[in-house]
Amino acid sequence: MSEVPEFGKKRKRVEEADSATDKDEKANSSINVLDTTNVAVSEDGKISAEEANRAPSQDSKKEPFVTAEDDRSKLGKEYCDTTEKGEVGASENPRLENRKRTRDSEPDSEHVPAKKTHTEAVAAHYNKLEEVGLEQRSMSRIFYLRNFNNWIKSVLIGEFLDKVRQRKQNITVLDLGCGKGGDLLKWRKGRISKLVCTDIAEISVQQCKQRYMDMRNRGRSNDRIFSAEFITADSTKELLSKKYSDRNMCFDICSCQFVYHYSFETYEQADMMLKNACERLCHGGYFIGTTPDSYELVKRLEASQTDSFGNEVYTVKFQKKGEYPLFGCKYDFNLEGVVNVPEFLVYFPLLVEMARKYGMKLVYRKTFREFYEEKIKNEEHKMLLKQMQALEQYPADEHSKLVSNTKDDYEYAEGCKNDEKMKLPLGTLSKSEWEATSIYLIFAFEKQL
Ligand SMILES: C[S@@+](CC[C@H](N)C(=O)[O-])C[C@H]1O[C@@H](n2cnc3c(N)ncnc32)[C@H](O)[C@@H]1O
Repeated sequence: MSEVPEFGKKRKRVEEADSATDKDEKANSSINVLDTTNVAVSEDGKISAEEANRAPSQDSKKEPFVTAEDDRSKLGKEYCDTTEKGEVGASENPRLENRKRTRDSEPDSEHVPAKKTHTEAVAAHYNKLEEVGLEQRSMSRIFYLRNFNNWIKSVLIGEFLDKVRQRKQNITVLDLGCGKGGDLLKWRKGRISKLVCTDIAEISVQQCKQRYMDMRNRGRSNDRIFSAEFITADSTKELLSKKYSDRNMCFDICSCQFVYHYSFETYEQADMMLKNACERLCHGGYFIGTTPDSYELVKRLEASQTDSFGNEVYTVKFQKKGEYPLFGCKYDFNLEGVVNVPEFLVYFPLLVEMARKYGMKLVYRKTFREFYEEKIKNEEHKMLLKQMQALEQYPADEHSKLVSNTKDDYEYAEGCKNDEKMKLPLGTLSKSEWEATSIYLIFAFEKQL
């Protein structure tokens, strides 16, 4: 068999391993085993591209919580109906107004000392996150999960850069919620010309800038590297266009990776982030990203006996089961024991409606699982998966150790081991990691106007 990435106690440096995301993810274990040579994916559970790209209205039929109290898809439409001035007409509808106000979005009473807002808490959380060295990261329980998420981002970014490059060479990108610069290498590899990095967490932005400078300095003198600017701002509350060095800045791509869900606390915040993502996109430009799939979250919550669910890798805790307001539907996300960060449910059909205000049309919506199943058929993507060590070798060899000690985590891989068609070793994600990553979906909108 062809070369298998080196796995083990000291997992080797991965291409872009230093760009692992801060946040990562479940799945039907029936697809999570790959033969590292053939990368064979079992047939069951495949979802057609047509369905993956289903329209929001069709989409909502699949979502159990749509059928609950009212038709949320319709509500979303109502919520986004704009007045002639372009203002949202929700306040004219008391029912919607009620839904809009949630405990989280109500102003504090005068007598109550001001609490840290959720956005402040998010910024503080990310600012506190230390940059972990490769050595330490390679020992992480979610090493493969992070690499897998990173692979997803790489393929997504590469795909849309290719689309843009078909019509122009000088590509400008907005990395909205750039964090510590986890995607810088992807932008370099994508040979873009200009990058604007922005995040609410000041320390993250500084680290992102430093990483960029280091990348520049490391490069050879004739290496062409994109120019960049860095902006610390709360994109749910501040208008980014006022902060660009060039007032006329336009982007070919806005990339928003694992970020947009922080904005769904209120309509105003979600709208502002959307505005920041889309208003400066060129005609034919793309707003691409990754965010938790509200359908998956609610499905898992409803299946749970309590108001939370998860496993040893991640937990999600909602405030209440059965009530899912369109905005401010808060849940705490905990990954690998790292402090809870408040996130908000993004009802996707609503986002699709809201985006129309900015001339954006949904062109792409796939769960990570669907995306993976589709992209793995491509040899280049398959190679990248290996290079990035996005899957764990199963069974482990004598020099290595599996990331999970739980047998159950490799139940499916174990089953596949005896399949004659599968060449050993297999590539897999432990069930717990797969359960965490399969919460997410990928989206892409295209600017029409
Ligand atoms: C999970 S991290 C993802 C970082 C990066 N996009 C990546 O994929 O590696 C989420 C990022 O969103 C940022 N963020 C959260 N709320 C934000 C807001 N209101 N405005 C700007 N950035 C925000 C956080 O500070 C954090 O860096």
